[in-house]
Amino acid sequence: MPADSTQPSKAQAATVKTKVKAKASSGGSFSLLSSKGLLFSAAIALAIALFAFPNESPVSLRRRRAPYFMPVTRDYYWVVTNFTAAPDGVTRTVLGINHSLGSDNLIEANLGDRIRVHVTNGLNVPTSIHWHGLFQYGSNIMDGPSGVTQCPIPAGHSFIYDFVVNQSGSYWWHSHYRAQYVDGLRGPMIIHGPQDHTKYSYAAEQTIQLADWYHSVSEDLLAGYLYPGSDGAEPVPDSILINGHGIYDCKYAAPNQRCQPQNPASVMARFVVQPSMTYRFRVISTSAFTAYNFSIDNHQLTIIETDGVDVVPYTVDRITVNNGQRYSVLVTMSARGPNAYIRAIALYNAPWTASANSAGYNTNGAAILQYSGQPVPPLPATVMPKKFVDFNQMLVKSLPAAAAPSKVDHNVPISFFFDTVAPDTIQRAYVSFNYDSSNAHTFQKPNPAILYSLLHDNVNPANLSPNLNIVQLAAGESVQLQIINYDGGEHPWHLHGHTFWIMGQGQANDTSQIPTTFPATQANPPRRDVITLAPCQLTETDDCAPNSFGYTVLRFVADNPGVWFFHCHIEWHVEAGLDMVFVEALPQLKKAQGMLPASYTSMCA
Ligand code: C2O
Repeated sequence: MPADSTQPSKAQAATVKTKVKAKASSGGSFSLLSSKGLLFSAAIALAIALFAFPNESPVSLRRRRAPYFMPVTRDYYWVVTNFTAAPDGVTRTVLGINHSLGSDNLIEANLGDRIRVHVTNGLNVPTSIHWHGLFQYGSNIMDGPSGVTQCPIPAGHSFIYDFVVNQSGSYWWHSHYRAQYVDGLRGPMIIHGPQDHTKYSYAAEQTIQLADWYHSVSEDLLAGYLYPGSDGAEPVPDSILINGHGIYDCKYAAPNQRCQPQNPASVMARFVVQPSMTYRFRVISTSAFTAYNFSIDNHQLTIIETDGVDVVPYTVDRITVNNGQRYSVLVTMSARGPNAYIRAIALYNAPWTASANSAGYNTNGAAILQYSGQPVPPLPATVMPKKFVDFNQMLVKSLPAAAAPSKVDHNVPISFFFDTVAPDTIQRAYVSFNYDSSNAHTFQKPNPAILYSLLHDNVNPANLSPNLNIVQLAAGESVQLQIINYDGGEHPWHLHGHTFWIMGQGQANDTSQIPTTFPATQANPPRRDVITLAPCQLTETDDCAPNSFGYTVLRFVADNPGVWFFHCHIEWHVEAGLDMVFVEALPQLKKAQGMLPASYTSMCA
């Protein structure tokens, strides 16, 4: 739990009601957070309008000091819709909210607020929404992964996601049904803490959402991936979007595609800044497949938050950002510019992608950092011509320090690999708890959802299918995961309901080679909710070299009764079965949940 967590009572949280509507256009500032703030917001909006350029996303200024707010309830009214859009110039069917892309639908609140998202499924297929990074303490049924905590919302039906936020930081929301979020059903979620502006000093903040983008709909891509001939080669994206805007060279467009050539300077997301000021950028990877090197030409990045966890300021030139990860960075502008490009360079070839790049894939995600009033130069072909100080995960320190449990109550050895196991003819992902490939299972989404079976039908988790990869945890125990990646690609694993401590990473052949104590990191290990499992080292013949398998050791405390998904956040791999489930403190969960609301149980009918 972050140190500035508070847990206000629901009664207290519900005293004031406001409506916050996410902005539906690409540019502009979003609404601020109290009625007093609205006036301020209007003044700032006017100031920003003076610098307005078409299609820009100017940095919205916020007050320097956030006063303490009475917690309020924030209602959002969302209809999940499909419509056509051309975020990179190529027209296709997309999914979004109220006919706008998910990236334009910000959820923004203060620590302690109650959020209610009234979701109506306007599609002709099911859907569900997950709030990535939120612990959902006491509200496990609101977590969202379909088949795990809920049955999906049927076509034409509605469900209200209703929860209190006890964490500040940068989060995001996305569909957790099939691979729907690849089609655009994903967006930002920002929770402001009362101490945000006293801990760090910055004039304003803005969100930079990174997303990989495909010209085909996810169901077609999935069908091509989970197919006997695909040999596990994941679909390769066509372009990179920043805040919903990308560039594609129309000469590569398929004959049946409508492609409108784009002028980079007018379509790219644009952040207008003042010289010498310091800004907070919240970098959120909403990607499905792609990891990035993120940098800003000629500007350093001082990391102050990783996945909602405040950290001791750590300055680098470049960060590798994987699916689902978030970084808040402070960036100080120079006295006179010059203008620069914000870069999200997609990483490809092994160990990031197995398949060859598709012709035309524009791996150069970019946005504009514009010093107010200065002209924007064309995008230089080469990224900064200098050496980079790169991000090192193990050098991150939480603020305030939080020691990991030194004693492990429950050790869980986990390994995973991809294979085609007869009679199955499709390559799928397998998870094993004992490094025994003959006793490994590929996750297959159950119906009804696991949480429903446990709470409504009183099923004993031990009697559920072994294909659910369930591990049961006792209330309050300290858990250690020793994970080994027996694959040649890297995999960003995400745990719902928790952040974990990262105790150590390295290369090994099996658990016997993994250290059991971590004196160097024990006192304050890095903490987050997505960690990249390194690949093995490939030999000339494309085999894994002996003893070169990437391992990671994680710890967390089973202090959040619930059913929590733990999975690779490469969306294709979620569907290929690279998933497991913690059933945590089940007796306590049953007691705390009480009667399930009809709005929840009816989705499983
Ligand atoms: Cu971003 Cu299972 O989640």
